[in-house]
Amino acid sequence: MNLTLEQGQFYDENGYLVVKEAFTDAELKRLDRGVYGAITSGNCGGGKVYPAPKTLYIVEGQYQDDPDLLLIGEHPAVTDPVESLLGGYACLSAFVSYLKTPGAVGTSGDYQGSHPTGHCDYKTYQQAGSSLNWLFAIIPLTDLDEETGSLLVSPGSHRESKIMPVTDKVNEVHRAQASDIAPLIDAELKRGDLCFMHGFTWHEGKGNSSDHDRYGIYLKYRAVNAPPGCGPQLFRERAFLAFSETGKRFVPHHGDRSFAEARLIVDHGGNFLLVEGDTRDWKLPGVFPLEKLVKESVTADVIGQLDTSLQKKYGLEIPWMTYIADYRNGDGLRRVYAYQDSEGTTAACTPGPVFRWCGGEEIWALADNGKLESEDADAIHRWETEACVRGVGQSMECAKKFAQ
Ligand SMILES: [Fe+2]
Repeated sequence: MNLTLEQGQFYDENGYLVVKEAFTDAELKRLDRGVYGAITSGNCGGGKVYPAPKTLYIVEGQYQDDPDLLLIGEHPAVTDPVESLLGGYACLSAFVSYLKTPGAVGTSGDYQGSHPTGHCDYKTYQQAGSSLNWLFAIIPLTDLDEETGSLLVSPGSHRESKIMPVTDKVNEVHRAQASDIAPLIDAELKRGDLCFMHGFTWHEGKGNSSDHDRYGIYLKYRAVNAPPGCGPQLFRERAFLAFSETGKRFVPHHGDRSFAEARLIVDHGGNFLLVEGDTRDWKLPGVFPLEKLVKESVTADVIGQLDTSLQKKYGLEIPWMTYIADYRNGDGLRRVYAYQDSEGTTAACTPGPVFRWCGGEEIWALADNGKLESEDADAIHRWETEACVRGVGQSMECAKKFAQ
């Protein structure tokens, strides 16, 4: 399904777009089965028993394997407009179905504190929300009328958050505050509609004051060339396998391994910081093993542990970092981030023989001689050459510390 020129213009101006009656009745019933199937089997966060009053049930698609639920993620009515609105190839960064029983409350406010209930989901510590080019595809499975709980949006609010350069390779977002945006209005969504919403658009989901469930699905897609600064969360292998052969491209980050290690590229003017390894070789500074990660905020937690470790071990203060790639490490995964130190602050506090700053040629020479792991050299190569739109990633503590 292609969007009309007018639909594209409406989205650009307003930061959201509603496509009415985008799905057949049979498709909606299939989604009903998928959502209720996961919830009634206890296959959702915390294993909550259904039904309980005033309760929010969340089913994260990345942990599911039911095609009834997951195949909406590759439905052309969703993915064609998504790729058109994002301006290129897209992939899924989050897949969430939710259900609120009667009496369940609405969404909470913005983490920077400027609004009690409305918010913007661009967040440097959130695995989907830290991409600089992403959007929601929202599929309500009940009419979101006033009683059931409307979805409110602030038209044009996506334009009030600004992408600003931090360095020549990485950008940050100056997030709009509640006082900057137009009043929130009812998007008037009905069962079977499809709403696309820009990742910077302010919105609010009202509580359920009806006598029936309020439920639906929201998907988050990002442009493939706009990786989340914080790093992606992985879809489990069984979720990946539920997608069709052609649909698997929407799930590039998948696997059952856990994060065991994290390393950081520190780039100062094309020179990279290495630290002495155990066997007279060199490696990127990092943390191993990672301690148990908080499931809900795995990616921000990896950054938090890497931050703390670099501070403790080497006295390095890293204000932000941006995701580069994941590599296998034994049974686990090693995640590599990069930080571009334009001021040379880290160079000034890394004296002595355990540190070494190397230019690109030296990096390749060390890798060729077996003195640097090929994965470290590969990560540096990706950081230097990949044409990505990169944003900053932060731990939750760090992001909230600097919140206004
Ligand atoms: Fe939200």
